[in-house]
Amino acid sequence: MKKILAISGSTKTSSTNALYISAISQLLGKDFGVSNFPSISNLPHYNPDLDLENPPKSIIDLRLAIHDADGILISTPEYAMGLPGSLKNLIDWTVSSASFSGKPVLALVASTQGEKAYQSIIDILTVLEAKIVPQLIPFAKAKINNDAEITEHETLTRLKSTIQTFVAAMENG
Ligand SMILES: Cc1cc2nc3c(=O)[nH]c(=O)nc-3n(C[C@H](O)[C@H](O)[C@H](O)COP(=O)(O)O)c2cc1C
Repeated sequence: MKKILAISGSTKTSSTNALYISAISQLLGKDFGVSNFPSISNLPHYNPDLDLENPPKSIIDLRLAIHDADGILISTPEYAMGLPGSLKNLIDWTVSSASFSGKPVLALVASTQGEKAYQSIIDILTVLEAKIVPQLIPFAKAKINNDAEITEHETLTRLKSTIQTFVAAMENG
């Protein structure tokens, strides 16, 4: 079974991005085990002074979780024309460890608009040498119901194709 680590850029309890992570988990099917990264808001603020040989325990756990996963699923809203700070903070902690290098990453931006966050996550994960499979879903809240079913046909079709590309990236590497 392939292991996927899901990271939501939203820390909201009732989150559209959490629904999209559930939807993608269901679409991936039984051959994939998706575990949610639990503590994005509990990570310390990135500080190069702490990014030494013995980083904080939460950062060791984060890096191990990424290392152990066959693929990473990120789903995030756009905040103030960019990535949410908590997600950017998590990513900053992975720069020195090169955790994303060569890693298949399905990067979904599910937001009201989201173009800036979409371009930003592509730029960031490209420089970190991830195998990025990106998708933007604008007006995301209106396209999924509370049972995590995607209600718009075109979005569902595109997402299935994105998932196929993500699965192929995991199988090839
Ligand atoms: C502080 C804040 C800033 C936001 N800024 C943007 C923005 O710049 N562009 C955008 O498309 N949506 C923006 N939104 C809307 C969210 O992206 C949208 O509500 C999204 O569906 C939230 O996802 P979530 O339910 O998973 O948290 C913002 C929301 C908040 C709370």
